Amino acid sequence: MPRVIAPSFLSADFGHLAHDCQLINRSAAGWFHLDVMDGIFVPNISYGFPVCQAIASVARKPLDAHLMIVEPWRYLERFAALGVSYLSVHYEACSHRRLRECIRKIHELGMSAGVVINPETPAEVLIPYLREIDYALVMGVHPGYGGQAYIPETTEKVGVLADMIAAADADCFIEVDGGVSVNNIAELERQGAGVFVAGSATFTSGDPVKAVRALLEA
Ligand code: DX5
Ligand code: ZN
Repeated sequence: MPRVIAPSFLSADFGHLAHDCQLINRSAAGWFHLDVMDGIFVPNISYGFPVCQAIASVARKPLDAHLMIVEPWRYLERFAALGVSYLSVHYEACSHRRLRECIRKIHELGMSAGVVINPETPAEVLIPYLREIDYALVMGVHPGYGGQAYIPETTEKVGVLADMIAAADADCFIEVDGGVSVNNIAELERQGAGVFVAGSATFTSGDPVKAVRALLEA
């Protein structure tokens, strides 16, 4: 797949959210990445439905929502109603039965389904789901905060996952989230990733349009 950059709005300027959305609309970014945190699954609380709605009303690109919350199955309809196209839930937040239920429900609601794994979770846990999901999201940092240092082992994990996807003959792409920058994006793509979430690399540069272009060309 052609490289997709998904700026994470966790690093946006919330006092000028519409302005930052317009910048991303104008940029070469593919998707808008929305990080929803509940303070329970992860130590931090980010933002919820009103902020997602505000972003959705200005965004002219697909919304990619990443749920870092417990009991994600309770909220799938709400994200569908916001117009989300890609919805991912954490492997660590669900039992096997609940994860299957989430994947099925996300599809029923007309969205693409992703399963996210934390840095300490091995790629192999995804084997039973590879033929059911549309994408696997590999965390490059511990979820909860933007701007953390990339965990180098993530690169090899993406390669392992890409081999597993090929072995399963599954139609599933790989998204990487956390610590993505111009320094690691090309190697992550070589290992098999196609979608790259970038929060601080997009918004802390002062010129998000240019930063997205740099990530696409790195
Ligand atoms: C981390 C979030 C990420 C985060 C990425 O919990 O899931 O989407 O915002 O931020 P950067 O790109 O700054 O690591
Ligand atoms: Zn995220």
